[in-house]
Amino acid sequence: MTLQEIDAAKEAALAEIAAAKDEAGVEAARVKFLGRNGSLPAMMKGLRDVAPADKPAFGQALNALRAAVSAALEERKAAVAAQSGPRDSFDFSLPGNWRGTGAIHPVSEVIEETTRIFARLGFTVADGPDIETEFNNFDALNTAKHHPSRDERDTFWLGPELLLRTQTSPVQIRAMLAKKPPVRIINPGRCYRRDTTDATHAANFHQIEGLYVDVVPVSLADLKSTLAHFAREMMGPSVQVRFRPHFFPFTEPSVEVDFSCHVCKGKGCAVCKQSGWIEVMGAGIVDTRVFGKVGYDPDCYGYAFGMGVERIAMIKHGVTDLRTLYANDLRYLREFL
Ligand code: PHE
Repeated sequence: MTLQEIDAAKEAALAEIAAAKDEAGVEAARVKFLGRNGSLPAMMKGLRDVAPADKPAFGQALNALRAAVSAALEERKAAVAAQSGPRDSFDFSLPGNWRGTGAIHPVSEVIEETTRIFARLGFTVADGPDIETEFNNFDALNTAKHHPSRDERDTFWLGPELLLRTQTSPVQIRAMLAKKPPVRIINPGRCYRRDTTDATHAANFHQIEGLYVDVVPVSLADLKSTLAHFAREMMGPSVQVRFRPHFFPFTEPSVEVDFSCHVCKGKGCAVCKQSGWIEVMGAGIVDTRVFGKVGYDPDCYGYAFGMGVERIAMIKHGVTDLRTLYANDLRYLREFL
């Protein structure tokens, strides 16, 4: 080992450190020169063979080499760190943990869309409990004491006067008991009936109720034009509405409401069972006897309507079996994304 060699080693080390491109490169240089098996410790060992008179000069040269290499390593490390930015900075180009977006369930979608359409007509959203009194669900809705829907084979009774509501119509009663006319509400909610589950029935389903009561005349024509507007908004601009006479205890006259089939435009297809029409809801002019039950002036006027949410979702999306809506099969529900 000569002093020139030590000098040359220093130049080579400094050049290599200066060329290190990143933190790993600087660390590799550190290991190579200062590490346990690095070149500096090897040269230190070589001191043993140097003549005693030359030892101080060699010792100084090696110390200077170590100092220069250490300083150069520190400096280079700081420089590459500054270049690459803070280590914990966020890399926007990394792919994320994508677990997929959720979709709105078709039943929720129909509820949201229906309430939105009626909200634009001035209806406010009302709510009521699933557990109802016999008075709100039947008596106040003018349902005869012997009416078959009260039977325990049709209604889930929770006690002598309490039940799981069989329809959203009791919310009409709650709304009228709470406020004088005008009342204009739309009310979506769960309903319960002792129905055996099949392709078109479920023991637990949803209805949307609408009620408009005023002290000025409200006619069947008003009801029809409002529902025609709803039909077009919901199903498409060419959909027509027709009324067929029916019976409900709390409306007189009562009607069943059909929409012209949005799939075949009334020509007849599988969705409308070749009839061109699809039954969508029940409706009618509020019976004055109901006004009597809630303490309203019998001279009030009003209309009410109620529709099955699952039914509308099925018609809209061409679903043939109601049970698929509740099977919680993500492959199926994703179709509604
Ligand atoms: N509640 C009725 C049913 O479940 C539907 C309906 C609501 C009819 C409002 C008329 C008025 O069948």
